[in-house]
Amino acid sequence: MLAMNYRGPFRVRADYYKPDPEIEHPGDAIVRVTRSCICGSDLHLYHGLVPDTRVGTTFGHEFTGVVVETGASVEKLKVGDQVLVPFNVACGVCPLCKQELYGNCHEANPGATAVGGAFGYSHLAGGYDGGQAEYVRVPYADVGPTIIPGDIHPDDAVLLTDVVPTGYQAAEMGGIRKGDTVVVFGAGPVGIMAAKCAWLFGAGRVIVIDHLEYRLEFVRNYAQCEAYDFRSLGDPVLFLKKTTDYYGADVCIDAVGCEAAGSFLQTFTGRKGMLQGGSATALYWAINSVKKGGIVSVVSVYGPTGNFIPIGNVVNKGITLRANQASVKRLLPKMIEHLRSGYIDPKAIITHRVPLEEVADAYHLFSAKLDNCIKTVLIPPSAGA
Ligand SMILES: NC(=O)c1ccc[n+]([C@@H]2O[C@H](COP(=O)([O-])OP(=O)(O)OC[C@H]3O[C@@H](n4cnc5c(N)ncnc54)[C@H](O)[C@@H]3O)[C@@H](O)[C@H]2O)c1
Ligand SMILES: [Zn+2]
Ligand SMILES: [Zn+2]
Repeated sequence: MLAMNYRGPFRVRADYYKPDPEIEHPGDAIVRVTRSCICGSDLHLYHGLVPDTRVGTTFGHEFTGVVVETGASVEKLKVGDQVLVPFNVACGVCPLCKQELYGNCHEANPGATAVGGAFGYSHLAGGYDGGQAEYVRVPYADVGPTIIPGDIHPDDAVLLTDVVPTGYQAAEMGGIRKGDTVVVFGAGPVGIMAAKCAWLFGAGRVIVIDHLEYRLEFVRNYAQCEAYDFRSLGDPVLFLKKTTDYYGADVCIDAVGCEAAGSFLQTFTGRKGMLQGGSATALYWAINSVKKGGIVSVVSVYGPTGNFIPIGNVVNKGITLRANQASVKRLLPKMIEHLRSGYIDPKAIITHRVPLEEVADAYHLFSAKLDNCIKTVLIPPSAGA
């Protein structure tokens, strides 16, 4: 089949090297992919920052498709069902899944205890091939895949597999109270959704920080928030202190992660020298600009090794740090409600629609943030209409 094929840092291609996936366990389903997005998380893989990303891996953890085969024990899906597939691979029955911590399943990734399973996210996250392909094997098919309701547009459905619930969970973990000032670092798809969702929890003021003017402009309109270019602020922490009467923000959200720009030292040690699990600039800023007793919510991705963050300030300011992979399945019903009410319009963030054959160009464009790219959807040739 045609599939995205990782050849090494900054080198991906679409080729026919991979055989069609087969049912390997009675609980599996095979899905013919109709849409598959490229995520900021894929960039960490693409840039070679995620350990154990093996040559030959197919990325893609945000996809929709049609069920073409089911294993003998699958009960909830049948051939022909149109499904959206959450990015978490989760067993549904372990103690963590029972707590709806589907991003932290204890069974789906036997190779590691510190990270759950995810599609197309290296052998560190279980070694499951992803959906940037014509077909994908979906384990635990009765757990994650969700039949797309007839009134949900397929472009919206594919964004429910990650970005929308992740942004929502970022706001939720912030413990936002009525009137709070919420600062979101990062105006990528996740930050955009976090800013939009912050209002749902009663935020009184939402401020987004990034350095890509086109994304700041987009989020200003999309989430009706303030948005600033950190390069024009001088010291963003000082700016955020000044604008909050020197108290600091009530809640800060890190929606940037391990490839943050803005600090030579962090970039040099985290991205070039690999002396820490990525550049922690946004998290550093978040900790320093939140108020005493405030909450810092982290949904962005960092490597498994340590990071240089001001833990002394966390202690002395009494900050609560909350972090997790999004638990997509837990949040889906609520996300569908917000979509139906018209509050969230996920597909508005899609800027590019690219045939799977051109996956190399699509990664380059998204990585280099060319052509005002916010979100790219890959369409396999076998997707149908
Ligand atoms: N926890 C989860 O479940 C989950 C799910 C999806 C994505 N993620 C992670 O969330 C993060 C964001 O994903 P995305 O798809 O929006 O990525 P993206 O690459 O599209 O966006 C990141 C944005 O951060 C901006 N940025 C860089 N340095 C900054 C800084 N110092 N301060 C403020 N902004 C800065 C970039 O310009 C960019 O616009 C990534 O780390 C991704 O891996 C986590
Ligand atoms: Zn993603
Ligand atoms: Zn589990």
